[in-house]
Amino acid sequence: MLWNTYVKRENVTGRANVDDTPALEAYYRELEQRELGALWNVANEIEPWYPQPKSVPMLWKWRDVQPMVRKAAELVTAEKAARRVVMLVNPGRKEWSAAAGLLYTGVQIMNPGEFTSAHRHHASALRFVMEGKGAYTVVDGERLALGARDFVLTPGLTWHDHGVEADGTQCIWQDGLDIPMMNALDANSFEVHKDTVQTPAPLSRENWKKPYSPVFLYKWDESVKSLRKNGFFEYLNPLTGGSVMPTMGAQLELISSEGKFKRHTGSVIYQVASGHGWSEIGDQRFEWEEKDIFAIPSWAKYRHGASSEAVLFSFNDFPAMRALALYREE
Ligand SMILES: [Fe+2]
Repeated sequence: MLWNTYVKRENVTGRANVDDTPALEAYYRELEQRELGALWNVANEIEPWYPQPKSVPMLWKWRDVQPMVRKAAELVTAEKAARRVVMLVNPGRKEWSAAAGLLYTGVQIMNPGEFTSAHRHHASALRFVMEGKGAYTVVDGERLALGARDFVLTPGLTWHDHGVEADGTQCIWQDGLDIPMMNALDANSFEVHKDTVQTPAPLSRENWKKPYSPVFLYKWDESVKSLRKNGFFEYLNPLTGGSVMPTMGAQLELISSEGKFKRHTGSVIYQVASGHGWSEIGDQRFEWEEKDIFAIPSWAKYRHGASSEAVLFSFNDFPAMRALALYREE
């Protein structure tokens, strides 16, 4: 078993291997009373031989998620909820509201004419539209119209609000954020805009020095055209050729056969953009179809397969891992 295993005592030179005695147990209680602790009781856990995420591989079937998302639209107003989202919570990362590792994901639903008020946060966000007509988002004043499977960014500290046109249809999208990472680093913040919604205005890209892509919206048709040409598509910052945001990257993959096993540090959250197939993650096999969402924890061995063409959207924390010189793969 790869996940959540640790041995308090290991009979290996260099590893903690202390037997409990009545004297030691009394000593541990004394330490605890003083907000102190014995490293040797946790050393083997907090210094694992290899990455041992608390997250487990997960698959959320759309047929299970969808009714719960639609119910949210009946039970709470978008205004009161501020963001009416059903989160996908990894059982191993509940305290972090993470879907895997340090990544958060949720599914947001908006009725025609509804909007969220303008705000910003240090956490970076991305959005993959699942369905509906008339959705829009306003990022630092720039208004962007969103269609199904479009990909849009709201990088950290950009003002954003979003909604659905009154003559649109109920819209659903997947949000991906680095909230758990920002909180793990004790670096998150939240601000409310002085106006309920921003007044749209053109946004200048001159002398762009910001640490994220000047392109906020990546349309599905163009992205998938490039995917078909190259078999792979990464959403990129056109100025740097690097990831769209400093902490998170995103991509599309074309799956039409069984791939090779791989593993890497960093977590990945997938959404099935089209088709059906399967993924083997660790010792589990998951069958997926359109709009299903699944999560791959860091260092889990995995591969995808499909008997006919499928397209997988995913986002990851690789840019953060690389920036910290922690990314490795095999
Ligand atoms: Fe936000």
